[in-house]
Amino acid sequence: MSTTPSSPDKPTLSTITASIHRGAIKNIVVLVGAGLSTSSGLPDFRSPDTGLYAKLSALALPYPEAPFHISYFNHTPEPFYAIARARHPMNAKPAVGHAFLALLERRGMLGYIFSQNVDGLERDAGVSEEKVLNVHGSWKDQHCAILSGTVPICLKDGCGGNVKPDIVMFGESLPGEFAGKEEEMLSQADLLLVVGTSLKVAPLSEMPRKLPTHVPRVLVNREIVGDFGSRENDVLVLGDCDDGLREFARKLGLEEELEIVWKDAVKRKEAELERDNWDDGNAPTLEECVASAAEKMNMRMGVSEGHRRMLQGHLADKMAGIMAKRAQ
Ligand code: APR
Repeated sequence: MSTTPSSPDKPTLSTITASIHRGAIKNIVVLVGAGLSTSSGLPDFRSPDTGLYAKLSALALPYPEAPFHISYFNHTPEPFYAIARARHPMNAKPAVGHAFLALLERRGMLGYIFSQNVDGLERDAGVSEEKVLNVHGSWKDQHCAILSGTVPICLKDGCGGNVKPDIVMFGESLPGEFAGKEEEMLSQADLLLVVGTSLKVAPLSEMPRKLPTHVPRVLVNREIVGDFGSRENDVLVLGDCDDGLREFARKLGLEEELEIVWKDAVKRKEAELERDNWDDGNAPTLEECVASAAEKMNMRMGVSEGHRRMLQGHLADKMAGIMAKRAQ
């Protein structure tokens, strides 16, 4: 993990934590993305080999984000449900990075969290509901529809439409409270902490630019994103976000408390899974979900018999490969 090269007046993580200790920074606004949840086992979207979008080729999508676009979902929902099945947050436990956010709140330093993630892991880590806005929605509470792996159809008044979990798809509007909340929180922020995001999707990608220039910004991410590095008071903590946030906690003298908050959060999630009789030990892998969705799509699209046989052969080979890998 590397931090910005220190020069006499350029702020570093140490000068930021010193400002926190002397009470000059007490209202931290946080923007998080999928990178924060990768160590919980949920792939991010755009990392070249491990990201979700790199694993959907069998679905022959018109473009990578298609499963999350409302116009595509309405006629071809299978890819979305395949991804949802493999990435369901009930399979995931909060990571130390999520616990860091809860620690900020416990210590009275958390202004607000804007999350692009739909996994609800910030709440699982102990962050209060009123301190976080999942701007892209959350599918934390929809189990059955996702777990069945089939596309649920709305039966109300003979609707027949595809049931869509409570997430915001491309082409849909964000929660109404977002704009006002963003303006309010940025006007009160003493620090903007950005963690695990490529800053590729507006309007959240614009948030760091909207922050008044006198307020410092800290980026904890694998690589530099957005316009980070363009301001004198930017602090770049490049590398794994769990490591970067542990370092942040260490400099605050809170490393032990962070581990306690994290362990408690994991125990709470495990108890919840136990209580809900959740046994998803045999959760299919993303590859398996994608392969079965591709098969359903092709069956539904009525491909020619020959094409179907070719695809089935391809899928059989793929599944044999997956099973052989799992047997190793
Ligand atoms: N540590 C640090 N950085 C990481 C880690 C990690 N363990 N894992 C991933 N990253 C970084 C990646 O390098 C990348 O810069 O996190 C970023 C993740 O970027 P994306 O995959 O684009 O995810 P995100 O920014 O949250 O995407 C925004 O796009 O598809 C939509 O709705 C979806 O909310 C999502 C939005």
